[in-house]
Amino acid sequence: GGAWGAHAALTFNNTVTGEVLNLDDALEEGRDTEAVKTFLETGINPYNENPACLPKGEEIFLTACSGCHGHLGEGKLGPGLNDDYWTYPKNETDKGLFETIYGGAQGQMGPQYSALTLDEMLLVMAWTRHLYKDDPKKAKWLNEEQRKVFKPYSADRKKPTDIAATGECSPMPN
Ligand code: HEM
Ligand code: CA
Repeated sequence: GGAWGAHAALTFNNTVTGEVLNLDDALEEGRDTEAVKTFLETGINPYNENPACLPKGEEIFLTACSGCHGHLGEGKLGPGLNDDYWTYPKNETDKGLFETIYGGAQGQMGPQYSALTLDEMLLVMAWTRHLYKDDPKKAKWLNEEQRKVFKPYSADRKKPTDIAATGECSPMPN
């Protein structure tokens, strides 16, 4: 039904036009996870830096994003996502990053709402953040605790697939 999206506490806007995004376009599957509920209320991605969620996020990234953005988000046909420069500064926030993925941007950056579930978007966002290689001080999406321990990504430090999936991929307790 058309009322589902109205439950979100926040309003989400298209990255280019500012038009309000209709969450009712989201796939039915993956709407009801705890992480999605939290995200729609707070704009904060509870999967960030959760080791149990990163391998799934990587898998989605390699299927849905790396063809255009490079396998480490280093940039290819699309811009680099692993550095501190953003065409759209709002992508420094999880809310902004979600809006760009869900609603798309210009050209080849099409909306992903019919390709990925909301939960998958949060997973791929967490992996995209994990690939960040620049100064943690500019990682606005991290909270203070996360920023203290965040290590900029380096390809030789660890292969993406080497991160052990420990425990359940569910939101981290605060
Ligand atoms: C732009 C993420 C898939 C091509 C962007 C931006 C983000 C992003 C965050 C804005 C970057 C900035 O502000 O600097 C993603 C993610 C994807 C994905 C997470 C997978 C879920 C794709 C695919 C293509 C693509 C499959 C090619 C078919 C582009 C292009 C831009 C872009 C050309 C520049 C658009 C503009 O400047 O308006 N992407 N993207 N992306 N992406 Fe993607
Ligand atoms: Ca960039």
